[in-house]
Amino acid sequence: MSNSHVKIFDTTLRDGEQAPGCSMTLREKLRVAKALSELNVDIIEAGFPAASPGDFDAVKAIADENRGPIICGLARCNPDDIEKVHAAVKGADSHRIHVFVATSAIHREHKLKMAKEEIIRSAVGAIKMARELCDDVEFSPEDASRTELAYLAEVVTAAIEAGATTVNIPDTVGYTVPHEFHQLFRYLKKHVKNLDAATLSVHCHDDLGMAVANSLAATNAGARQVECTINGIGERAGNCSLEEVVMALKTREEFFGLTTQIDSTRLYPTSRLVAGITGMHVPRNKAIVGENAFAHEAGIHQHGMLQHASTYEIMKPDDVGISKSNLVLGKHSGRHAFRSRVQELGFDLDEFETNRAFQEFKKLADKKKDMFDGDIEAIIMNADGASTGPWILQALQFQSATDETASASVKLIHENGTTNEISATADGPVEAALMGLEKVTGIALTLRNFELRSATAGDDAQGEATVTADFEGESYRGHSASVDIVEAATRAYLEVINRILRRQERGVLKNRQTADVNQASI
Ligand code: KIV
Ligand code: ZN
Repeated sequence: MSNSHVKIFDTTLRDGEQAPGCSMTLREKLRVAKALSELNVDIIEAGFPAASPGDFDAVKAIADENRGPIICGLARCNPDDIEKVHAAVKGADSHRIHVFVATSAIHREHKLKMAKEEIIRSAVGAIKMARELCDDVEFSPEDASRTELAYLAEVVTAAIEAGATTVNIPDTVGYTVPHEFHQLFRYLKKHVKNLDAATLSVHCHDDLGMAVANSLAATNAGARQVECTINGIGERAGNCSLEEVVMALKTREEFFGLTTQIDSTRLYPTSRLVAGITGMHVPRNKAIVGENAFAHEAGIHQHGMLQHASTYEIMKPDDVGISKSNLVLGKHSGRHAFRSRVQELGFDLDEFETNRAFQEFKKLADKKKDMFDGDIEAIIMNADGASTGPWILQALQFQSATDETASASVKLIHENGTTNEISATADGPVEAALMGLEKVTGIALTLRNFELRSATAGDDAQGEATVTADFEGESYRGHSASVDIVEAATRAYLEVINRILRRQERGVLKNRQTADVNQASI
């Protein structure tokens, strides 16, 4: 591989998924992994197998199913973590074990309570063990950007000597700035004598809003792998955004002299997919994939654009997979056109799912005059949630007026054939409907977050509701869309309840339905 190639290491499913509110189901992770393969990332970090049996299963399923990118799993420097990663990733055509240990004085003293030499011994032992299981081993000195330079060089030298094939330098707390980080990489280039035996990588967090700039500075100083996430999701302020770093390298190729193998036309669909699944919506003004990224409002800009697009446009919407007009299909569109648009949007539905989504599309097209990509995405996300069962919403009625108590009546049918209808009253119709759901299902939740947004433009747009609620110390997310926002909220809440009931059925959770539903804290 040429020295101008920058590997894209995607950690959406590990560092991204770890962020509050971003957890994904196995099915959702598989869908994201497939989209990442189509995007042509070099490496997918699929998870942290030792974190939980669910994480292990997800990494294994991704490794067994995905062909193309290297599948990687994260491990601390201990034999159990390393064995778990190996067992999870070994089914992939190519796989990697990623081991890490913190090296900064702050982490050494306050978190690990380990001396410098102990940390090096632990890293070396872990890397050697991982190399016995796998030829491709990455090592990360966590909090590298706050580690003493001479000690960092010592750790990196020892890691490469022990067999690390990639050495990743994380700015774990998003503390560094581009010029300083560039100097850090130059320092390592100068003082780590065996550095050429490994690929140098960079991993930045966005606490000061500089993750992309810092990653680019590192590539300028010799890094040839960038770790990043779709839409920049990740702990706290997030990670380096994949779409931004890729498009910066592509748009300014003459300046950087570097290339990636990413199919940039898959950036927008992948971004939409991850936003839809995680409920972490992309701000309108977000670079590359935000709704306004290619919109030109000011008259003077529009005039320039009409003369020549390059006056105000440094990238074309097509380059990142945004079609000129995303007004896509209408009520007369056929199943074939629907199916190919669904595929272009990055979804891979089987026959049954396509038919179900197409029927929903037709129903919606009767209600709405214009259908957009966002509508199709909302339908598919809806179908995903609805398929969780066991309760299905059969009817919803509600009443509300200013300064009056609202009421709602929900009618649910269980897959065992039981039908149950209950009414509830509350301050507003959404609250009343959610209380009705709790009464019928016997599951009382603590609502943590409730978001409502419009799926597309227009006054007949669908409302998308995303609900995060807690049950027995764990958070669950539900998502739904409808032209009726009370219905969207009710379906999203029901999705959460269904997920919990399914977990109870599988024995993951105790079947302890909350009797006193009046205690419901919604
Ligand atoms: O931010 C960080 O330091 C990490 C490491 C595990 C690579 O995510
Ligand atoms: Zn990180």
